[in-house]
Amino acid sequence: MATAKNKTKTVFFCNECGYESPKWVGQCPACRAWNSMVEERISGATNASIKSTKEVLADKKQRIACINDISLEEENRISSGIGELDRVLGGGVVSGSLTLVGGDPGIGKSTLLLQACRLMGNAGVKILYISGEESLKQIRLRAERIGEFSKNVELMCETDLGIIEEIIRERKPDVVVIDSIQTMFLEDVSSAPGSVSQVRESTGVLMRIAKGLDVSVFIVGHVTKEGTVAGPRVLEHMVDTVLYFEGDRHAAYRILRGVKNRFGSTNEIGVFEMRSEGLAEVANPSEFMLEGRPKDASGCVVSCSMEGTRPILIEIQALVSRTNFGIPRRQAQGTDYNRLNLLMAVLEKRVGLSLGECDAYLNIAGGIKVTEPAIDLGIVLAVVSSFRNKPLPANMAAFGEVGLSGEVRSVSQIEGRVRECKKLGFDICIVPATGKEALKETKDIKICYVSSVSEAIQALDEL
Ligand SMILES: Nc1ncnc2c1ncn2[C@@H]1O[C@H](COP(=O)(O)OP(=O)(O)OP(=O)(O)O)[C@@H](O)[C@H]1O
Ligand SMILES: [Mg+2]
Ligand SMILES: [Zn+2]
Repeated sequence: MATAKNKTKTVFFCNECGYESPKWVGQCPACRAWNSMVEERISGATNASIKSTKEVLADKKQRIACINDISLEEENRISSGIGELDRVLGGGVVSGSLTLVGGDPGIGKSTLLLQACRLMGNAGVKILYISGEESLKQIRLRAERIGEFSKNVELMCETDLGIIEEIIRERKPDVVVIDSIQTMFLEDVSSAPGSVSQVRESTGVLMRIAKGLDVSVFIVGHVTKEGTVAGPRVLEHMVDTVLYFEGDRHAAYRILRGVKNRFGSTNEIGVFEMRSEGLAEVANPSEFMLEGRPKDASGCVVSCSMEGTRPILIEIQALVSRTNFGIPRRQAQGTDYNRLNLLMAVLEKRVGLSLGECDAYLNIAGGIKVTEPAIDLGIVLAVVSSFRNKPLPANMAAFGEVGLSGEVRSVSQIEGRVRECKKLGFDICIVPATGKEALKETKDIKICYVSSVSEAIQALDEL
């Protein structure tokens, strides 16, 4: 009994960054998060994994190489069969890579991966789908919705990573899906599945499997709104690629966003629609985002955001009304709350709009999150329109970054944005004056060049 006691000790882990501390602290010294430390019991047995790392090292004595001698052909990609997923991954699934797919419960993580498995399986790729949260029957039911599967896709319900590793070694699949990392456990680690140390150690094991056996591994990770359960935050820095599935659970479409990618750019997004037969790719996201847009409503403006290489039109909605109780309420959904406050201060100070006693609510329609400053001008005009209770022309779009002195600053790829507006039938574009040179092709569309917020408002009045 006494010896067992000696072996286990209690440590504290930060839920946000995985920092380890021998005693509880209110604020994590590493990432400064408050109240993020959780207690966990670990046994001395973690050196099992240390030993195996040593073995791997011994296997690979040729580790050190001159950077020029390393062959470039190594990055071997296979198509996932889903264009939008390939796009976010940077051109397909890299063999031997570890990819984390995160997202809220029920957003469609399992569906997306099962669909990718089906298409890869049909293309001759050997797949092993391991679920720790659903029964084989449940997965079969989902598969029924999606379509017919080839023999290449194998299912397993298992949560013990030791067994999983053995099976992967034996069956040698090309792609493995782990659904989800929070249900997996290593016998050596004594804390419960889903705890920081379990999640961290399990991911370490999966990393070793992926690199050692050249298997592409997808890990599903749940995130709670508060990020309380040992969230994928801890593993973000361990894996090669992090994809997040976002979007309003009640809306039909979902957005897949690359947050980190060791093999490609991270600013591409994939757009999907949830249908009864699974997730369908959305080829023209702008059209989708603007669907059901109210015409002749005040406070609505269309703006354009570059998501990777694609311009996407979005609808910005603002509602400005007089405050009833003392302090004004401000709320922003789909974009940065502080940005809204800043832009309202600019309007107050530089244009003289008395917004100080107004509540303001801002919403990007459809649950997409936009962080590009190019939509600033759109936000400003939406607020002005709602404040004056005057609708803007429905055939107008506006984009440009707004600076603190009320100036409208240039944006990248102005040509591509204007082309997208034209393609979707817009007739008027309000753009930064600095874009005049970059913009060559302007027939069929009226362009208003503005250099400040007040000029933009003036341009509206003259339309
Ligand atoms: N017959 C159906 N028709 C349309 N949509 C469906 C149908 N059945 C399920 N769905 C959608 O699929 C979603 C569940 O997808 P999925 O199980 O892939 O999500 P998940 O992210 O893996 O969830 P979890 O966090 O529970 O693992 C549901 O929220 C629902 O919107
Ligand atoms: Mg699932
Ligand atoms: Zn921390």
